[in-house]
Amino acid sequence: MDRLVIEGGLGLSGRIRVGGAKNAALPCIAAGLLSDGPVTLSGLPAVSDIRTMLKVLEGLGCAVTRTPSPDGLELTAAIRAVELEKGELRAPYDLVKTMRASILVLGPLLARYGKASVSLPGGCAIGARPVNLHLEALQRMGAEIQIDKGYVEARVPGGRLKAMDHTFDKVSVGATENLLMAATLADGVTTLRNCAMEPEIGDLVDLLQKMGAKIEGIHTATLVITGVATLGPCEHTIIPDRIEAGTYLCAAAAAGGDVVLDRVVPEHVRALTELLDRCGCTLTERMGQDGPQLRIQREKGQKLRARDITTAPYPAFPTDLQAQAMAVMTQANGISVIKETIFENRFQHAMELERLGANLRIDGGTAIVAGASPLMGCTVMATDLRASATLVIAGLVAEGTTTVDRIYHLDRGYAGLDTKLQGVGARIHRVSGGTV
Ligand code: UD1
Repeated sequence: MDRLVIEGGLGLSGRIRVGGAKNAALPCIAAGLLSDGPVTLSGLPAVSDIRTMLKVLEGLGCAVTRTPSPDGLELTAAIRAVELEKGELRAPYDLVKTMRASILVLGPLLARYGKASVSLPGGCAIGARPVNLHLEALQRMGAEIQIDKGYVEARVPGGRLKAMDHTFDKVSVGATENLLMAATLADGVTTLRNCAMEPEIGDLVDLLQKMGAKIEGIHTATLVITGVATLGPCEHTIIPDRIEAGTYLCAAAAAGGDVVLDRVVPEHVRALTELLDRCGCTLTERMGQDGPQLRIQREKGQKLRARDITTAPYPAFPTDLQAQAMAVMTQANGISVIKETIFENRFQHAMELERLGANLRIDGGTAIVAGASPLMGCTVMATDLRASATLVIAGLVAEGTTTVDRIYHLDRGYAGLDTKLQGVGARIHRVSGGTV
């Protein structure tokens, strides 16, 4: 099993190019099911979740060609979904269990083929993560759904979903994406209310519009979709990954230094940059040759101020950056109260941070961090994707050697994290298998 070994205590300096957004790429790949294609997606990050999603589509009968970028950190995939109805249209447990986002094939399959069999994703380290919102809304569009032997068995009598006016009980990124895709080929005008407004949904709307979908309300909580008979081929480049960008901003804030991020949308990381600004970092936006850049500076010896954080749906502070921001708060003077409102079990990184020397307490959905604490390197265990990134950040801060074990979690969502950090002066390297 691979691990990362980090010699901490150094500041970071240099430039990092942010990759394509994993969480935008996943629904865009699922959208490839909605037309014969080819749907050609560029800027897909070369991470295991993307490989899994492409395998799910191949398992459904799609032809997928992959072209890696010269640096191997991204790929372009061309998806052709032709005559899939001849097959089983089944997304099996073996793939789905490694990645919940596989449920995103359900809406497109029902919309285009009127049937689907998708494994239930099951539990997840960060909380229960049910799919009731997806299923209830698809049923309202006319899908008949049963749960049989752990699978969502769904069919649409008559073959075509019906439009509806629907208000989601809770804001859900995945349910918004699934229903948005389903509605593009439905009969009539669908209105989805209380939608999530994450930038990844805007990217999906953008892709679907290029395929010929009729959607109004992009970037708002109400999406109005006029169903069309067919969708066509298109080419699309995935937006930059705001969570990856945010992770590097947190790394620079916690370890100190002067880092410039290339290929970033500053608006997408505003909740974090405002926080880091209030903590005492200097953030500057400027226009570079390849688009906007974001620079973060924290001079050696400059003290950070503790600030409170509450996670909530976009544009508020993202749950996917809560863990990384906690690592920053271990280095800030004062008390930081961190409230997690999206997932019920998302503080597993806290115990590992304590092992490195952080001073914190968990009380239900609230973490209280008292800083600044000197961190000392030791061996820590990654428990989920973003928790792993947090331990890397803490390792960059800690004196001595930190070994982060079980980094297959990290490989689900970060392409070249170790090489990108090496590029800004971090002493970090990957050790494959065995003991260190
Ligand atoms: C997506 C992101 C994930 C991020 C999360 C919240 C992807 C691939 N993943 O996950 O990285 O942390 O948004 O920003 O884009 N819920 C229900 N019933 C449902 C669906 C969700 O109760 O049917 C609840 C969840 O348990 C959670 C909340 O709604 O408490 C938000 O979850 P949701 O936005 O659906 O997260 P995902 O789409 O799974």
